[in-house]
Amino acid sequence: MTRTIYLNNQFVSEQDAKISIFDRGFLFADAIYEVSAVVEGRLVDNDLHLTRLERSLGEIDIPMPMPKEEIIKLQAELIRRNNLREGVVYMQITRGTAERDFGYAADMKPNFVMLTQVKNITNSAAAKNGIAIDLAPDNRWTRRDIKTTMLLAQVLAKKTAHDAGYQDVWLVEDNHITEGGSSTAFIITKDDVLITRPNSNKILPGCTRKAVLKIAEEQNLTVEERLFTPEEAFNAKEAFLTSASSFVTPVIRIQEHVIADGKPGSLTLRLQEIYMELARTSAEPII
Ligand code: PDD
Repeated sequence: MTRTIYLNNQFVSEQDAKISIFDRGFLFADAIYEVSAVVEGRLVDNDLHLTRLERSLGEIDIPMPMPKEEIIKLQAELIRRNNLREGVVYMQITRGTAERDFGYAADMKPNFVMLTQVKNITNSAAAKNGIAIDLAPDNRWTRRDIKTTMLLAQVLAKKTAHDAGYQDVWLVEDNHITEGGSSTAFIITKDDVLITRPNSNKILPGCTRKAVLKIAEEQNLTVEERLFTPEEAFNAKEAFLTSASSFVTPVIRIQEHVIADGKPGSLTLRLQEIYMELARTSAEPII
């Protein structure tokens, strides 16, 4: 079955979803994207993702193509047309189409694309068994708080990690872990303190991060938002990563360093379970 894509006010089949080679997203990565999870046909933390979308667009001077409420209606229609039960809705807004030139006109019309991807999020092998991750230098620009499609540093770091037999990668700068290639990095110390880097221009402010920190506080876990080193991560009691497309994924090995006994940690699994339950129950029903 071919997918239905949303493209600039139309629903079209994926074969017919065409965009100009002069689109600035294609030429300059002059574009913002977002990814919202769908579980049991419902969008998860979607309001957080649309709020971040609006902020990212504002930071690079691209207008919101329409109000959030309109986007939600289109997302719902796209999920319905594709009969998506579990996976993601990917959204991308580019500055628009024009002759190739670094400069751009103030009145450009953005191109807006949304597509669905089927993905097993809640019952994946990674969620159940955990993953092994590599470390790589963080080679990105310094406005990582903006969710641009300029993802080459992550593409290459993930490829190197995959080729070396790891499932994912965490990025390191100035001997501190910034975040995952497409996720937020967390460790839990031997005395049960949950640590993750504070939001700044050095990382993307994760929506799942925000939701999981709220759960951690409700569970009376001690949370410290501070920088941490690879060495601290190697010696952690537990480690995990979060993202819209993988929720809470246990990390059981970092390079050659096995975390705890090489099994997903109990606090990690508790946070994972609570987040999944929230995703199933509190997400807005579609239609
Ligand atoms: N990535 N950090 C980076 C660099 C990311 O790309 C992502 C998400 C996150 C986690 O953010 P959130 O919890 O809001 O998904 C952190 C998405 C899933 C992607 O690129 O596909």
